[in-house]
Amino acid sequence: MPQIIDGKKIAQEIKDEMKIEADKLRAQGIIPCMAVILVGDDPASAVYVGGKRKDCAYVGIESRAYELPKTTAEEELLTLIAQLNEDKNVHGILVQLPLPGHMDEKKVINAISPDKDVDGFHPVNVGRLCTGVEGFVPCTPAGIVQLLHRSGIKIEGKECVVIGRSNIVGKPASLLLLRENGTVTMTHSKTENLMDITKRADIVVAAAGRPKFITKEYLKKGAVVIDVGIHRNENNKLCGDVDFEDVFEKVSAITPVPGGVGVMTRAMLMYNCISAAKREELL
Ligand code: GUN
Repeated sequence: MPQIIDGKKIAQEIKDEMKIEADKLRAQGIIPCMAVILVGDDPASAVYVGGKRKDCAYVGIESRAYELPKTTAEEELLTLIAQLNEDKNVHGILVQLPLPGHMDEKKVINAISPDKDVDGFHPVNVGRLCTGVEGFVPCTPAGIVQLLHRSGIKIEGKECVVIGRSNIVGKPASLLLLRENGTVTMTHSKTENLMDITKRADIVVAAAGRPKFITKEYLKKGAVVIDVGIHRNENNKLCGDVDFEDVFEKVSAITPVPGGVGVMTRAMLMYNCISAAKREELL
C-alpha cells in the first residue's frame, strides 16, 4: 500500500504555524497585510482570490481587495502597484493571473517590488532562486518541497524528473529540487523518449497539463509521484496528470487530486506573506 501524501493535513499544519507567526508579529505592532488585485470577471480567478482571502483571514493576515474592471488601462494598474509598493503597511502584493488580453503580464509582474512579490514571479526572485539566494519562491513548487519534507521523503541525491517547464511550476520546481540536492532532469513536450527518462526517477513531478498522462509504464517500482495536474475527467470528476488507479500499486508514495499539491499553493502563499511581514521586523 503506498503512502498517500495528505496535502490537506500538511497545508493545515502550515497555516496553523503561520497563524502563530502572525500573532507574534501583531504583538510587535506589525499587522501582516497582503494586497490582492483582481482585474476582470473571470469566474475561476474570482474563486481563487476568494480562497486566498479566506486563508488570510484564518491566519490573521489583513487582505486588501482591489477589484478592477476588465477594461482598466494597464497604466492604471501600474499606478496602483506603484502606490502599494510605497505603502509601508502592505507587505505582499498579488496580481491574480491571467490578466485581460490588452495587458502585458510580464510588465505588470516586473512592476511589483521584488520584496513584496509573494507569488515569487518577479525576475529578481527567479534569479535569487537560480543563484541560491534567499527570496520568494513560487507557491506551488514550494508546496511540493514541503509535501516531500513533511512526508519524510528524502530529496538529496535522488533522481528527480520534472515533466513540464512552465514558469509557475516546472522550472521553479526543478530549481528547488536542485537546491535540495536532488539530481534533476527537466522534461517537456519536445522531450524524446520521455518514458526512458521517467523510468529512472525516484521522484516524478508531473506538471504537463495532460489528464491521466502518466501511467505505470512511465514509472520505476517504488517511485514517489507528485501530481500537479488538475483536470475534469469525462464524468466531471477531478483528476490529475497521473492515472492514480493505474499507478497505485507501483508507487511508494503519491499525492491525490484533489487534496495533494493544489491545497498547498495557498498555504505557501500565507508562508510567503508572513516572510514578507517579517522583513519589516528586520528593517
Ligand atoms: N493564477 C493561477 N495561479 C496563480 C498563482 O499562483 N498566482 C497568481 N497571481 N495568479 C494565478
